This record gives sequence, C-alpha cells and structure tokens, in this order.
Amino acid sequence: MQKLLISVAVVLAVAAAATAQSFYEEEIGAWHFHTYFFEVNPSKTAEAIAFRKATRQMINDGNLPECSLNQIAIGWDGPHPVSQWELCCNKTSYAAAHSWHTQNHGNLSVLIHPLTIYDQEDHMSRTSWIGKEVVIDAECPCLYPELPQPRPCPVYPEYSDDLPEDLENIQYEKPIPGTEDYRGLNKDFDILKDKY
Ligand SMILES: *[C@@H]1O[C@H](CO)[C@@H](O)[C@H](O)[C@H]1NC(C)=O
Ligand SMILES: *[C@@H]1O[C@H](CO)[C@@H](O)[C@H](O)[C@H]1NC(C)=O
Repeated sequence: MQKLLISVAVVLAVAAAATAQSFYEEEIGAWHFHTYFFEVNPSKTAEAIAFRKATRQMINDGNLPECSLNQIAIGWDGPHPVSQWELCCNKTSYAAAHSWHTQNHGNLSVLIHPLTIYDQEDHMSRTSWIGKEVVIDAECPCLYPELPQPRPCPVYPEYSDDLPEDLENIQYEKPIPGTEDYRGLNKDFDILKDKY
C-alpha cells in the first residue's frame, strides 16, 4: 500500500512539473529590450544612437537571429517616461540579446520585459533592468490587463537608426493602445478585434 501511494505521488509530481514546464515554455513568446535615453542630453543621446547602430550591425551579421528593431521613440511613449528604442527578440534569442545588452549598455538603462497576454503585468511586475532602474508610467491606459494571444516579434521595416532631425517640433502619432507593435505592419490593426 505504501509503495502504491509513493508511486501515485511520484506520478502526480511529474505531471505537475510537466504542466509548470509547458506553462513557462508557452506563456512567453518574445522579449523587449528598451534602451532609455534623455533626448535633451547630447552625450546620452549620442551613446544611445551608437548602441542602436551597433545593435543593427549585430542583427545584420546574424548574431541576433529573430530580433528586430522598432522605431526610435522620442519623449513619453507610455508606459515609457523618456525616449527609448526597442529591440524585440523572439525567445530563442533571449540569451544572445541579454548578453549583448549586458556587455554594451554603457551608461544607459535597459528595461527588459516579456511579451505575454498579460500586457500590464509584463510592464509592471515582470520587469528587470540592466543598469539603473527608471520609473515607468504604470498608470498608462495603453496597457491591457489581458490580450487574446501571446505576441511574437514582428519583423519591422528597416526604421532609421538616426534621430529625427527636428526634435523640438516632432509630432507624435499616438498609437491605438496596445497596437504599437503592429501599426508598422498594418495601421488599421485592432488588437481587440483582429487575430494576430
Ligand atoms: C518571431 O517568430 C514568429 C513566429 O515564428 C515569426 O513569424 C517572426 O518572423 C519572428 N520574428 C522575427 C523578428 O524574426
Ligand atoms: C559613460 O560615461 C562616461 C562618463 O561620462 C564616459 O567617459 C563613457 O565614454 C561613457 N560610456 C559610453 C559607452 O559612452
């Protein structure tokens, strides 16, 4: 009888481990690495742009497979309080991208967060940082508590790696909340209605 109970316990433990494993494997499709900079500070801006260009070179050389660079965002772009650029990597390249940022972020702060269906959670309590932490705008209405599906990284168009020329007069087009990743591909995309 005792042997039977032990076997049952072992089977249950193995099943629980398998469930936990698939939860972790499936829940996170991709990761964002946001490199922050203050566009009013020329040295930080120059550093951020140089780091972005080096990152582009890494992608072009095949060292960051399944990673793509989103547009440089100047100023507040919720939930990010200051200027930043984002590298999106499918989870297969997490280690390579983490190593690259760890070794090359210089004086800049890098926010790392996963992309799951829990958009708000991903930006609020599932964050980690390389360099100093920056307070993000967790009250931003652009974050959804729950999305219909996890998102992999889109392959972005080859956005410019230079700063926009007229920083003072830059016009921000506010994205449809939650659709930031998809507007580059389809500006009519609606995250709550369309499949992706
Ligand atoms: C991420 O993975 C998805 C699904 O396999 C793929 O369609 C997409 O092109 C990948 N993203 C990049 C940046 O390679
Ligand atoms: C970081 O800041 C220091 C001090 O301002 C500067 O000397 C150094 O070049 C900066 N690092 C990078 C990678 O730009």
